[in-house]
Amino acid sequence: MRIAFYGGCFNPPHLGHLAAVREAYEALKPDRFLILPDRQPPHKKAIPGEPGPEERLEQCRKAFGCFDWAEVSDLSFSREGPCYMADTVRLLRQQYPGDDLILVLGADMLPGIEDWHDAASLLNDLHLAILDRDEIPRSALEEVSSRLHQRFGARVDFIPNDPVAISSSQVRALLPQRKGEDLLPSSVYREIIRHRWYDAQVSLSWLREQVYAMLKPSRIPHVAGCEKAAAALAARWGADPEIAAEAGILHDMTKRWTAEEQLRFCREQGIKLDTCEMESPQLLHAKTGAREAKLRFGASDEICQAIRWHTTGKPEMSLLEKILYLADVIEENRSYQGVDELRKLCFEDLDEAMAYATRSSLEHVRESGNQIHHDTLDAYRWYSAADNRRRNSNVISR
Ligand SMILES: [Fe+2]
Ligand SMILES: [Fe+2]
Repeated sequence: MRIAFYGGCFNPPHLGHLAAVREAYEALKPDRFLILPDRQPPHKKAIPGEPGPEERLEQCRKAFGCFDWAEVSDLSFSREGPCYMADTVRLLRQQYPGDDLILVLGADMLPGIEDWHDAASLLNDLHLAILDRDEIPRSALEEVSSRLHQRFGARVDFIPNDPVAISSSQVRALLPQRKGEDLLPSSVYREIIRHRWYDAQVSLSWLREQVYAMLKPSRIPHVAGCEKAAAALAARWGADPEIAAEAGILHDMTKRWTAEEQLRFCREQGIKLDTCEMESPQLLHAKTGAREAKLRFGASDEICQAIRWHTTGKPEMSLLEKILYLADVIEENRSYQGVDELRKLCFEDLDEAMAYATRSSLEHVRESGNQIHHDTLDAYRWYSAADNRRRNSNVISR
């Protein structure tokens, strides 16, 4: 049996890995193709915020799951300590005695291979398939290959390979900048965002796509308007417009859920409800949205708190909480009496705008005959008092 194998840290597995494996498989057509993630890479230091070994293994299963001929193996997980290729090959030789083992490697690895740990045992009679990306002159590769053959009896084949110029370290550097999702299998990117590994910040275009698919189509313009207004208010008041935009995209993500779904989710998640929320389940999407944004997209606590308070408001809100609350009520699709005045006020004085917006909300709830939420009443009292205090102090200072 011919068994090809491809090892690495896969931290994270990216589209370059997938392309390499596909090309190697097409060229070799082995009976089995094993992907061997290292449990503990020998030379690499732990990276802050990276997934653990078991999580990397699972990420590899997701990434290479698109190839029905590829098998992700936890062979290197059976050993403690650093994982050297020589150990992996020893284990494979024990497991598959008499079979032709083919180590698939990028050409950049070949020139240094004689310095690898226990190279003599590794290379003894080994079959290597080198993905040749034209980065290193073929003559230099041929020279190494004939030396490996003479010294160790190793056999080297070259596989012409279209270079996919991606490295895991490049991907890790892009993720905190809301980039890199186009370099990753979508299932891998989704998990990275869910756990916020590598300090990843979510790509806003990807997030829009995910969240819009959860909304009623008629709600999408409102959510898009809220994102835009939140980013504009953040730019005005010195907050991060991208964080505000993320909060705007996420804020109504559970709005489509029925009252039963909202209540069930609250029960399952241990979210406590007050009597007003029990009677007006449309208010619940703030609490369920905050929790779901964390569970599904790993949203920060700051964003989750802004989503949590976007329907009722409360006293002493953070800057982002006020921005989201106000963006929700002034976004470009809103039209009600006083909205233009409120829009103007939002860019002049946020607390005055909060006083205005909570008063409008109370009037609206009163007119519609619904129960007033005590948090909105407290917010109104707080911001109108803050508003009065500031107005008084302005008069005195003049
Ligand atoms: Fe909402
Ligand atoms: Fe909304």
